[in-house]
Amino acid sequence: QSAADVSVERTLALIKPDAIDNADEIEETILRSGFTVLQKRKVVLSPELCSDIYAAHYGKMFFPSLTAFMSSGPTIAMVIVRHQAVAYWRDLIGPANSVNAKETHPGSLRALYGTDELRNAVHGSETTSAAEREIRLIFPDGPVSPIPTAQDAITY
Ligand code: TYD
Repeated sequence: QSAADVSVERTLALIKPDAIDNADEIEETILRSGFTVLQKRKVVLSPELCSDIYAAHYGKMFFPSLTAFMSSGPTIAMVIVRHQAVAYWRDLIGPANSVNAKETHPGSLRALYGTDELRNAVHGSETTSAAEREIRLIFPDGPVSPIPTAQDAITY
């Protein structure tokens, strides 16, 4: 494999409010699956931010319950990286409806930790462009440099 074939991507992973008690286990699965966690934040998302993240679903029947649920408690947001991160993370989380996931993808995170079509434990961006858009919404200050800078040294 040449360097040009290596498609290291980042994507957004959310541990939703219904799965917050399982966050440690989910994070272990993420790391065991070859992802590196670039950024991590625990945050109660505002209904406005949830509407923005799920803007594509605006007007649908389930939209109000979706934004209410997503803002009902703390979420853990992570920017995760690996080869083909978007597809690989979507694969790991499984189908949107946790009831179906338990039937068809019993090992998936939504089967293991979710409950139904709304409370499905985790989120994964659908495409690389959706990932970049969603990462910007949740991490508006951009990536934190993993390398300490001279400025950081002042506070040590
Ligand atoms: P969707 O984009 O279809 O799924 P995914 O999360 O896999 O990208 O839907 C977004 C979220 O909306 C989904 O995670 C849960 C919620 N939802 C419902 O509550 N009811 C529904 O009928 C659908 C399709 C989704």
